[in-house]
Amino acid sequence: MRVSVIGCGYLGAVHAACMAKLGHEVVGIDVDAEKIAELSAARAPFYEPGLEELLREVQDTGRLMFSTDMSDAHGSAVHFICVGTPQKKGENGADLSFVDAAVSGLLPFLSPQDIVVGKSTVPVGTAARLSAIVKTQEPGVDLVWNPEFLREGHAVSDTLHPDRLVYGVADGSEDHRTIPVLDAVYGKPLAAGTPRLVTDHPTAELVKTAANSFLATKISFINAMAELCEAAGADVTRLADAIGMDDRIGRKFLNAGIGFGGGCLPKDIRAFMARAGELGADQALTFLREVDAINMRRRTRVVELTRELCEGSLLGKRITVLGAAFKPESDDVRDSPALSIAAQLQLQGAVVTVSDPKAIKNAATRFPELHYQADVELAVDRADALLLLTEWEEYRELDPYALGDSVATRRILDGRNVLDAAKWRAAGWTYRGLGRP
Ligand code: UDX
Repeated sequence: MRVSVIGCGYLGAVHAACMAKLGHEVVGIDVDAEKIAELSAARAPFYEPGLEELLREVQDTGRLMFSTDMSDAHGSAVHFICVGTPQKKGENGADLSFVDAAVSGLLPFLSPQDIVVGKSTVPVGTAARLSAIVKTQEPGVDLVWNPEFLREGHAVSDTLHPDRLVYGVADGSEDHRTIPVLDAVYGKPLAAGTPRLVTDHPTAELVKTAANSFLATKISFINAMAELCEAAGADVTRLADAIGMDDRIGRKFLNAGIGFGGGCLPKDIRAFMARAGELGADQALTFLREVDAINMRRRTRVVELTRELCEGSLLGKRITVLGAAFKPESDDVRDSPALSIAAQLQLQGAVVTVSDPKAIKNAATRFPELHYQADVELAVDRADALLLLTEWEEYRELDPYALGDSVATRRILDGRNVLDAAKWRAAGWTYRGLGRP
């Protein structure tokens, strides 16, 4: 099938490559000429494991091309909308200008039986509004909302092997004419047993925001427990292990630490609250304000703990922050708690060096005032304290004995609770975790 993918960021670039891998003929379209040039040369404009290899593989088949010209969407049976929906400046709501521009840019190139498929995370009600716009231009075209659940760092496998597919169609009916077409698009994952649910438009939009809100709530729940553990002298990691053994609760997403960040969870829960307010249902989501507050409190707590670790003063202290990305296996620094903590420490008089295996370039663009050093050995040199804030595998495996000779003082704050506290203490380090005695 011929498909177009409009928007080639974290979502769209992966989606385009994966659609070609599934056997379709794909054109990826983006307004950013630099991004398109990179992708056309089979280079990923951001770090995502396996993406570059996949780009090379599918480009060799001739089934994947990239373009800045929307007219190249003409002739595709299915058009995926994969553009970003960032938080509006100074407001909680989602900025839909990219989605609106993508749809209006596509209108002149639609043919009567085409299907427009929204994948971006949008406020509930957007699909119905866009569907009406599309129908005004071309009554035969249908719009389906098909939310994407991929995680950065696992985006390729999450797209090729999703845990579910949701098709939101206008009438919510299993007989909708778009369903066999989408089933053909996702033929391989469906044949492999991926469950597929057909819903109406608003349910499909809400599935995505509800899922992200649940995940954010789970993380803030365990971080609230971490606050209690700190007050009571208990260990949140053991608490999470024990409650996680109840399979109604589950151990996943119960890692207490510096909290969630990234381009999705923080802005999605805020946009969800804003939309609930517009719908007159704001009371239903007031708990998300608390989820957000607990999450932001972790960052302040780490700054305070670092001050304690440095005997009450941050002034002039050399602090090395290990990790800038919002999570490992990503170079994404959008709303990264690690970087936000690094910047706060710097503002309070510490001399901060940030290290990260992949995210230094993006971090330096966002916070040029921080000092960056990719080489861990150089980054920790003469440090008064180390802060592990993104749990990259190479940081988890650091040797406390070898590192002990490089730093000025053996102090470490484990912001992700991933180090073996006993091992670090045995090597002469003052170890602090979050929510651990
Ligand atoms: C999330 C959703 O998981 C995904 O389904 C959706 O499509 C997009 O948003 P992503 O932003 O890639 O994906 O990251 P995710 O793995 O969910 O992690 C989000 C944040 O939560 C990270 O900062 C991570 O470090 C943090 N986290 C996660 C915790 O602090 N504790 C945990 O136990 C799990």
